[in-house]
Amino acid sequence: MKRLNPVIALCVSALLTACGSTTSTSDLLNENLEIKDAHSYSNINEICTTHLNLELEIDFENKIVQGVARHTMSNHDCDTAIFDIKALEIKKITLGEKGSEKETDFDIGDEDEWLGRPLEVKISPSTKYINIYYQTTGATEAIDWLAPSQTTGKKLPFMYTQGQAILTRSWIPLQDSPANRITYSANIKVPSELFAIMSADNPTEKNDQGIYHFEMKQKIPSYLIALAVGDLKYTSLGENCGIYSEPELSDACRYEFEDLPKMIAAAENLYGEYRWDQFDMVILPYSFPFGGMENPRLTFANPTLLAGDQSLVSVVAHELAHSWSGNLVTNATWDDFWLNEGFTVYFENRIMEELYGKEVADILAVIEQQELAGTLEEIENGDHPEDTRLKLELDARNPDEGLTDIAYVKGAFFLRTLEERIGRVKFDKFLKEYFNHHAFETIGTEDFVRYLNSELLEPNNITDFNVDEWIYQPGLPENCISISSKRLEKMTVLASAINEGKNIFLGANKNMQRGDYVTQEWLAFIRALSSEILPSDMAMIDHKLDFSRSANAVIKSEWYQLAIKTGYKDARPFMKEHLTLVGRRWLIAGIYETLHDSMDKSDLAWGKEVFENAKSNYHFISKSTIQEILYD
Ligand code: BES
Ligand code: ZN
Repeated sequence: MKRLNPVIALCVSALLTACGSTTSTSDLLNENLEIKDAHSYSNINEICTTHLNLELEIDFENKIVQGVARHTMSNHDCDTAIFDIKALEIKKITLGEKGSEKETDFDIGDEDEWLGRPLEVKISPSTKYINIYYQTTGATEAIDWLAPSQTTGKKLPFMYTQGQAILTRSWIPLQDSPANRITYSANIKVPSELFAIMSADNPTEKNDQGIYHFEMKQKIPSYLIALAVGDLKYTSLGENCGIYSEPELSDACRYEFEDLPKMIAAAENLYGEYRWDQFDMVILPYSFPFGGMENPRLTFANPTLLAGDQSLVSVVAHELAHSWSGNLVTNATWDDFWLNEGFTVYFENRIMEELYGKEVADILAVIEQQELAGTLEEIENGDHPEDTRLKLELDARNPDEGLTDIAYVKGAFFLRTLEERIGRVKFDKFLKEYFNHHAFETIGTEDFVRYLNSELLEPNNITDFNVDEWIYQPGLPENCISISSKRLEKMTVLASAINEGKNIFLGANKNMQRGDYVTQEWLAFIRALSSEILPSDMAMIDHKLDFSRSANAVIKSEWYQLAIKTGYKDARPFMKEHLTLVGRRWLIAGIYETLHDSMDKSDLAWGKEVFENAKSNYHFISKSTIQEILYD
């Protein structure tokens, strides 16, 4: 079996005709223009899927998904079709429409740690239909199988998939590059007591047969194909939005996300019509490795968002914003990831400003700014200092490594700096047109730069804006705007007083409560506390504000890190509970890192012990990150 070169250069003109990707006439004249997706083996420039039909059975007993992936292809006279697979068992492959299929030969290439394997299928130049019969295996990374005990209801099992960035290939054999967009349909069979939903049109009621049909009529990249199966109930929140959750969580969801219709209205008001008809979310089990994942029509969300006081809804604004930035206009490769996340963080902040005011939006941005400073330093001192550039070069690496504050926050600050230079009115008009012009298309950084120049900078006679520096140079350009927040400064002052040994809970602060301040104000407070303060100081703060047992897992995560640094052991039972329950990577990785870095060697041993007991509650994504942190 031959080893394929994972770097597949795509001629954009071929891609355009074959797969409906974006470009303009002037792009076609530019012969140098190429999109390279280093993270897919597929030959989408020669032959690409236009529609995928899935016929799958979800087998909870054996923890496998099995069935057939039927690909309708746009074939440009080619005799081999290459798909991406990882940890899949391929049973047979046929050509032709359902019912008149003929088996064909295939070849599976060597395994790459990140990419999996190329699946080469022998076809004829006129082949239009390729059917891959397969099943997932125990090594499938996309799927999380949960026992009833790992759910809220504790009665029924649950499963969900996570595709981004390149895990879809571990549950569906397909051309797993965001450069190709497809429509999909699916027939999914599940145990009759369970309800299946996908990133497609969904029923609002469970049926007795356990057979569900889905259609996604809009073209999407493969990383947005997603499935969740469990004991689910739908709670409508408005005309075109609602939440699927375990029945026990319905009421909590109704309250926590009641602002969703307002968020959708604000987003549409900013950047144009919501193009996916329905915006629903599903609350997954705690193992879900992210706060949210923007699967179209059905954002996947972590139950830690249910803080009980609507204090973590910026994640909802974020995933909603992806309906434009990311899902409507998609990064062509994972090197262009900032086009997805940077635009989304910018857009998220604008939604937050519309709903909760500029002060709150600024608080969010300042915290991000501080986190970016930390990330910059960390990356600059690490193995890949070049990763502080917006446009990445992740060839031969796990695309997950691009998931840093560079894409998110440096990306957003690039847009904020542009906004400040150009003025909000013009900038908003530009962004609205950008989303409209590239709707349902996939674009690379260079496409964006050309569009920015021709539609915003040149018409406004701006010739000195350092776009290239922002995108292609490491670090943070000097013209990056700086945001400040009086409210956050106040928290720093309070923390400093504690650092100086003062009791702050007197006078005006006597009745100070958790609910008096937003999440990010508490983060600023905790971050400004010195790691030199005494365990008794920590106990005093905890006595007053109860951080160790907070319903807000974001605050808890920050607090536990300080608890480790200050040797405040009273927090340990609660920390252990948090680490055992929650699999959201961002809320546990920092704690494990602090345990790992602690001067007290018994902390690392404690962390390893907790992890060994907790890891069956984590999705592969979190499990592998934590494994790396603890056992490097
Ligand atoms: N799309 C991302 C999550 C992601 C990125 C998964 C890359 C896999 C690979 C999602 O929109 C996200 O950014 N989630 C954040 C939300 C936060 C920034 C508001 C999260 O989960 O923490
Ligand atoms: Zn995001």
